[in-house]
Amino acid sequence: MNFDQIVDRKPTFSFKWQKYQGKDILPMWVADTEFRCAQPILDALTARVEHGVLGYTLPAQYEPAKQAVASWLQKRYDWRVELDWIVWMPGVVPGFNVACKACCEPGDKVMIQVPNYPPLLAAPQLNQLHRVDIPTLEQDGRWMLDFDELEKQAADPKTKLFVLCNPMNPVGTVLSEAELARIADICRRHDVTLCSDEIHCDLILDEQACHLPAGKIEALKDNSITLMAASKTFNIAGLGAAFAIIPDNTLRRRFNQAAMGIVPWVNVLGLYATEAAFTLCDEWYQRQLEYLRENRDYLVEQINQIDGLRVNAPQATFLAWVDASGLGVDNPQAWFEEKGVGPSPGTDFGNKQFVRLNFGCPRDYLHQAIARLTR
Ligand SMILES: Cc1ncc(COP(=O)(O)O)c(C=O)c1O
Repeated sequence: MNFDQIVDRKPTFSFKWQKYQGKDILPMWVADTEFRCAQPILDALTARVEHGVLGYTLPAQYEPAKQAVASWLQKRYDWRVELDWIVWMPGVVPGFNVACKACCEPGDKVMIQVPNYPPLLAAPQLNQLHRVDIPTLEQDGRWMLDFDELEKQAADPKTKLFVLCNPMNPVGTVLSEAELARIADICRRHDVTLCSDEIHCDLILDEQACHLPAGKIEALKDNSITLMAASKTFNIAGLGAAFAIIPDNTLRRRFNQAAMGIVPWVNVLGLYATEAAFTLCDEWYQRQLEYLRENRDYLVEQINQIDGLRVNAPQATFLAWVDASGLGVDNPQAWFEEKGVGPSPGTDFGNKQFVRLNFGCPRDYLHQAIARLTR
């Protein structure tokens, strides 16, 4: 459990490190961390591999992983879910694309907050649907949905689905109970289903904030699809395991129907890793949160001292949404890369004056990044 440890990921064809291969640019883009997995996860994977046979396992029949999900949700969110509500998915991305198919007819409208994770922005069009953008506005150092726009767009009879991202990527907001109640009320009154991408929900850095899963809200029980995974928190995204929690039987049937024949079963190693993550890694998890909090505080303090850059402390995630408009340059991404730092371009998320920096890394990388940005 040493988050300062540098692990060379280049020989593994890591997506993050491939981009700047052969260039002196520190990659701080793709949302995985640089941390070695918790030992119990590695042990569970090793034991499963050493069994030697890696044939089919029907995820729904692998009770220990479902039990692990249920006990994690009970412990962390005081949310009691029935095992039948859990639908395994090989990723959260297939999850919200399946939700689009399950809840809409071609030509319908889907509301999406902007800026947002690029595959979320792309989902409506990939499913022959119209995307309706709900702006995210900055208020007192925190980004929040434009509720007036949400209310207005939800009232359109063509609008069938709201795909929310909470905690928000890239802006790092954790929605409060009151804000979620407002969303639930809007969805209910206008008969809009809520699909809530909560992949970052276990990474709450703001100790005053508290994550509330959408499906736990009584008003959304029969009208919501909550998408989660152990992948970001435990750095196992390459194993392709996520899950949807769908309390309502009819909606769950529609969701399963929409996935049929297209979405493969979850990788068996992903099931084992998720089970181990949710049952055996509490200490690693808490230590990582502390490490990420310190990373965030260091990065925010340093970035805000650089002329032309400004950032709010994200309440969650290991991602910082940096406003580079003060640099007065056309292409902030190019400015960062010239300095030797490789963030995600804000353009991909819907705002070209920003970049997104991933601080899920050993502190030494952050020191290097700041040294490069200030040289
Ligand atoms: C908001 C959000 N949803 C989904 C994903 C990816 O999900 P998956 O790899 O499980 O498909 C990411 C990864 O960065 C993300 O930030």
